[in-house]
Amino acid sequence: MSTLAATQISLPNGKTYAQPTGLFINNEFVAGSDAKIDTIDPYTGKVICAMEAASAADIDVAVAAAEKAKRGWRDTLPAQRAALLNKMADLIERDADIIAAIDSTDNGKAFTMARHVDLVGAISCFRFYAGYADKIHGQTMELGRDMHGYTKREPYGVCGQIIPWNFPFLMWAWKVAPALATGNVIVLKSAEQTPLSCAYGASLIKEAGFPPGVANFVTGLGKTTGVAIATHMKIRKVAFTGSTLVGRQIMKMAAESNLKKVSLELGGKSPHIIFADADFDKAVETVANGIYFNQGQVCVAGSRAFVEAPIYDKFLEALKARTAQVKSGNPFDPTTYHGPQVSAIQCERINALIEGGVKAGAKVVAGGGKHELGGLFISPTVFSDVTGTSPLQNEIFGPVLVISPFKTIEEVVAIANDTEYGLASGLHTSSIDTALRMADELEAGTVWINHYGGASPQLPFGGYKQSGIGRENGDAVIGEYTQIKTVSIARNNNKK
Ligand code: NAI
Ligand code: MG
Repeated sequence: MSTLAATQISLPNGKTYAQPTGLFINNEFVAGSDAKIDTIDPYTGKVICAMEAASAADIDVAVAAAEKAKRGWRDTLPAQRAALLNKMADLIERDADIIAAIDSTDNGKAFTMARHVDLVGAISCFRFYAGYADKIHGQTMELGRDMHGYTKREPYGVCGQIIPWNFPFLMWAWKVAPALATGNVIVLKSAEQTPLSCAYGASLIKEAGFPPGVANFVTGLGKTTGVAIATHMKIRKVAFTGSTLVGRQIMKMAAESNLKKVSLELGGKSPHIIFADADFDKAVETVANGIYFNQGQVCVAGSRAFVEAPIYDKFLEALKARTAQVKSGNPFDPTTYHGPQVSAIQCERINALIEGGVKAGAKVVAGGGKHELGGLFISPTVFSDVTGTSPLQNEIFGPVLVISPFKTIEEVVAIANDTEYGLASGLHTSSIDTALRMADELEAGTVWINHYGGASPQLPFGGYKQSGIGRENGDAVIGEYTQIKTVSIARNNNKK
């Protein structure tokens, strides 16, 4: 395969950069054999460029490259792996403005958010797992004088990784850094809506000096490229972030192919609970950010707010006023908070849920879908009076909040937990007793107290119930990317 030259792209902020458009296999950008995919700027609706897409045969080539690199990478000194990951962090930091602009153009998210949330998170993720590379260890077991036992944590080998479009580069970093730190080799597929920063990151992998085949990056459709990864017989682990629907299919494909290990980070309908003794203004601000951030396209979006009855009416008024202040517009305007949704399909899905909700009797408190800017914008919206069977009880993945009052702690615990999801939850109170009791009661992988959202590489992240399997971040993810080998030795104790 011959190497493809990068395409010069002019970003909306006037900067020009070289965008690789090929599949990155064996440290080269090459053509794919599936139909090329146009990636679109959701703000202008224009095609940014066409990307090469991977067929099942291309995935075979990428996996073969990874297989070839597997042994050498596993046996690379951990400190050397750490040095390469730190070098990646440096390169991402150097190019952070470009990468943030790429994600802003490709996804529609506000540039300031991309720069200060996604990119800062990606850099700290690489630094954190650079630090872990030489701190992975097993245990020794006391088996008496005649036996010796110890465990090692070993990589799986070739890991397949499938990421979504809502935080393109941050999700890339969350997958790449821990997998490489633990000595795995990877084949990662970016989302077809946002493939650009993944391919750009691939060019940094090469520049940093990772050996060929260690990290391979492709884009393509879920039903072809994604399926080829999930069903591949030589891929020993698949890590997926996306919808619960597809997560379930990934697990089936893993089971029916080679029983590869699966980790899933899926959807949510997370409760955000405000007690009457909370800092009122901070709670209003936090509830607004908890749902409107990233146009509501966040797996942990606080999409169900529950407010204690005595302050409910006042809270509703304040939230309505706060919602009216959300600044929508051009993602590159530094004052913009709210951009377009990622795609026409997502817009249609959200609008259909909003219309269905209205038909089912929900009351529009603020917004209501249509946005004065048109295009792929959806107005930040608050609904009250949402019944149990309303379409608004689904994960909406848009800037749409459902709010209701509650009277007792028992009542709010019951409704907060009355969902098949369990990704995150949040609560505001000035009572330490209430806070700790709620932290115990909520069925969710994360409980945020007196704040909401935000992830740190130190904190494990993942879901209860149908929000996922396994954890990202923290030292928990080390377990997701390593398998335990037990070594047991009979000792002779110098007897002849
Ligand atoms: P999706 O789950 O279809 O896409 C996520 C990734 O999976 C993409 O890379 C896609 O190409 C891939 N994929 C799709 N079908 C596949 C298959 N059969 N086998 C293997 N890979 C496959 O999500 P989509 O359609 O983009 O968004 C739909 C809904 O999913 C959203 O409205 C939202 O509710 C949820 N979602 C959740 C995310 C999260 O962070 N948990 C991220 C993106 C979407
Ligand atoms: Mg795009």
